[in-house]
Amino acid sequence: MKWSLEIHDSLESTQDLIKKMAAQGALEGNAVQALIQTQGRGRHGREWISGSGNLYLSFLLRPACMAFHIGQISSLTSLAVARALQSFLEEPDVLRLKWPNDLLLKGGKCAGILLESDLAANNTVEWVSVGIGINFENAPEIGVALKPHISLTSLSLDLDVLREALFSQFEECYKLWQDQGFAPLKEAWCALAHKKGETLSVKLGSDVIKGRFYDIDDRGALLLETAHGEIRTITAGDIYALGD
Ligand code: BTN
Repeated sequence: MKWSLEIHDSLESTQDLIKKMAAQGALEGNAVQALIQTQGRGRHGREWISGSGNLYLSFLLRPACMAFHIGQISSLTSLAVARALQSFLEEPDVLRLKWPNDLLLKGGKCAGILLESDLAANNTVEWVSVGIGINFENAPEIGVALKPHISLTSLSLDLDVLREALFSQFEECYKLWQDQGFAPLKEAWCALAHKKGETLSVKLGSDVIKGRFYDIDDRGALLLETAHGEIRTITAGDIYALGD
C-alpha cells in the first residue's frame, strides 16, 4: 500500500477532504491529517471535539468488495489501531476493544473510528474513507462512554510516531484480510474485545437490549444472546454498560 499524506493545520473534517479526493479519483492510500478539526464528527452524526494535541486522521481505501464487507473493514481498523497503541504501552492488556469499534484504555474511550463509503449500483464498494480519532493530549467529554474519555498523555511519543505505527499496523491487517479473509482478524478482534458470555447492554435508539456477548458475525454485527437463549443480531448501536 502506498501512503500519501497531507497534513493540514485546520480542517472542518478530515473525512470531508478524503471524500472530496475520492470523488476526484484519488488512489487508495491517500491520507489526510489535521491538527485541529472545526467540524469533526463521530458515529451516528455525533460531534467529535477536535482541539489541538490529538490525532485526527482519515485515509482512502478502494477495496474490491461488496457493501456488507464494510463492517469487516471497521473491525480490522479497530484491531490495527489497538495494536498500534498497544505497541507503546507498558501494559498492553489495559487496551481493549468495545463493539463496534471503540478503543478503551482502562475502561475509558481513548479512540474512535468512523467509516464512510460510496457504493456502485451493484452494491460493490467504490471507496471507503476510514477516519480515526485518538485522544492523545486531551480527552473531550463526548459520545456515549462507559467512563469519561481518556487520553494517552502518559505515552512519551509524538503524533508522527503514532501515525506511522498506525499505518504499518493497518497495512498488515488489511493485507491479511485481502489474502485470508475475515476469519483470522475476527479471532484477533474478539481476543481484544468481549469475552464470550460477558453481559452487555446495547442502546438501540430509545431501546436497551441486555444480553450476553456471543460473537460477531461476518458483517462485524454483534451477536447477543438474550435471557431466553435467543441470538439477536445487532448491526448498529452503542454498548453503554458492561457487566451486570
Ligand atoms: C466515534 O464516534 O467514535 C468515531 C470518531 C471518529 C473521529 C475521527 S477524527 C478523524 C476523522 N474526521 C472526522 O470528522 N471524524 C473522524
